[in-house]
Formats: sequence, structure tokens, C-alpha cells
Amino acid sequence: MSDKIDIKESDALLKTTRSVRLRLDFEKAVPDEVLKDCITVALQAPSQTNTQQWHFVVVTDRGLRERLGDIYRDTFDKYWAESAEKSDGSIENYSGGDQRMIDSALYLRDNFHKAPAHVLFCATGNLPEMPLFEQASAYGSIMPAAWSFMLAARSRGLGTCWTSVHLKESQKVADVLNLPDNLTQAVLMPVAYYSGSGFREASRLPLDDVLHWNGW
Ligand SMILES: Cc1cc2nc3c(=O)[nH]c(=O)nc-3n(C[C@H](O)[C@H](O)[C@H](O)COP(=O)(O)O)c2cc1C
Repeated sequence: MSDKIDIKESDALLKTTRSVRLRLDFEKAVPDEVLKDCITVALQAPSQTNTQQWHFVVVTDRGLRERLGDIYRDTFDKYWAESAEKSDGSIENYSGGDQRMIDSALYLRDNFHKAPAHVLFCATGNLPEMPLFEQASAYGSIMPAAWSFMLAARSRGLGTCWTSVHLKESQKVADVLNLPDNLTQAVLMPVAYYSGSGFREASRLPLDDVLHWNGW
């Protein structure tokens, strides 16, 4: 491979890999090989002392996706209710009033099961029982792998959305998928080809608000 990476292309990939919900194409099948290719890319992510203590659970079976979709909807509603409580009863206040994001999240809540594939990213070990250093090391290994998967998926025309509300009922997910005890779930992603073309850069906090140089 050439050492010359096209900065414009790679920056565009990094800056436009969005959470895709409304544009997931539920009708188009995602070949198993494409999912495996994306996970092969994810395996190149950094991990603590290269221990690679991670597992990737791909769910394409319709019945299992429906059960995960039920858990997603229930836990989303729980999160929604808790968030509203924290923000004077209004979810709009809590989420910064981003109505587009809210509509999109509600759409995924209703349609999660329809994505032709779900990928569950897990770390080996029971992380909540570990000291902070070990927790950070394990999460710091699985999270970059999940992000690499999203980037690899996006380059192949696939949309993904990082989700975590299911973790409120992670044991239910473990039961559905028959997961072993010494595994910690981190991210659950619906995966589907996206409709339309192109994604835009998102609005973010200005660099000056978050950048600290040589101290705070
Ligand atoms: C740790 C984490 C948890 C998230 N959990 C959810 C989730 O449960 N459901 C969902 O619809 N989006 C979830 N998101 C997606 C965020 O809402 C999204 O990244 C954010 O609104 C910015 O939008 P963008 O990814 O399109 O730039 C999560 C993102 C992260 C990083």
C-alpha cells in the first residue's frame, strides 16, 4: 500500500461518518462477507498491550433481531422517561432542542429490528467489577474497534448508528444471544445500506471552547 493517504478523502470519511437512522435501507440485504470485511478492518484497532480482548456478535436472524428490537424500544423508553425527569419534564431541554436528532432517534426506536444486521461489540471480562485502569483499558480497546467498523461500513455504503441504551438491560440481551458471563457489552449497532448519497459535516462545539494547550 502507498504511504500517501489522500488527506481530503480520509478527512471526509472521518468527518461525515454520521449516525444513520432515517436513511437505513431495511429492504436491501447486507452480505455476510461485507460484514466480515468491516470486522476485519476493526481488528486493526489499537488494544491494551495488543491483548485484543474483544468479541463481535453479528445478528442477522430475524427472530433474534426482533427480540433485540423489543429490548431496544423498552430501554429507549426508560432512558427517555429518565431524561425528561432530569430536564424539567421536557426531553427537548435535555437534548439541547435538537428536534431532528429526536425525530431520528424515535424512528430508530420503532424500527431497530428492521435493520438487516445488528453488531454487538463486547469486551472480555466483567468490566464493572474491575479497577478503573482495567476498565479504561478494556473500553479503550473495544471502542476504537467499533468506530473503525463504522468507518469501514461507511466506505462500503453502509449506515450504522452507535447505540447504548440496551445496556440498561444488558442481561436480557445476553440471554437472547446466549452470551457467556465474562463478557461486557459496549455498543450495539444496527447496520444497513443507506439510501441517498453523501453525508454532511455536523455542527460541533468550536475548537477554542474545548482546546487547552500547555495546561487548562
Ligand atoms: C456513547 C454513545 C452512545 C449513543 N447511544 C445512542 C443510542 O442509544 N441511540 C441512538 O439513537 N443514538 C445513540 N448515539 C448516537 C448519538 O446520538 C450521535 O452520535 C450524536 O447525536 C451525534 O450525531 P452524529 O453521530 O450523527 O454526528 C450514541 C453515541 C455515542 C457516542
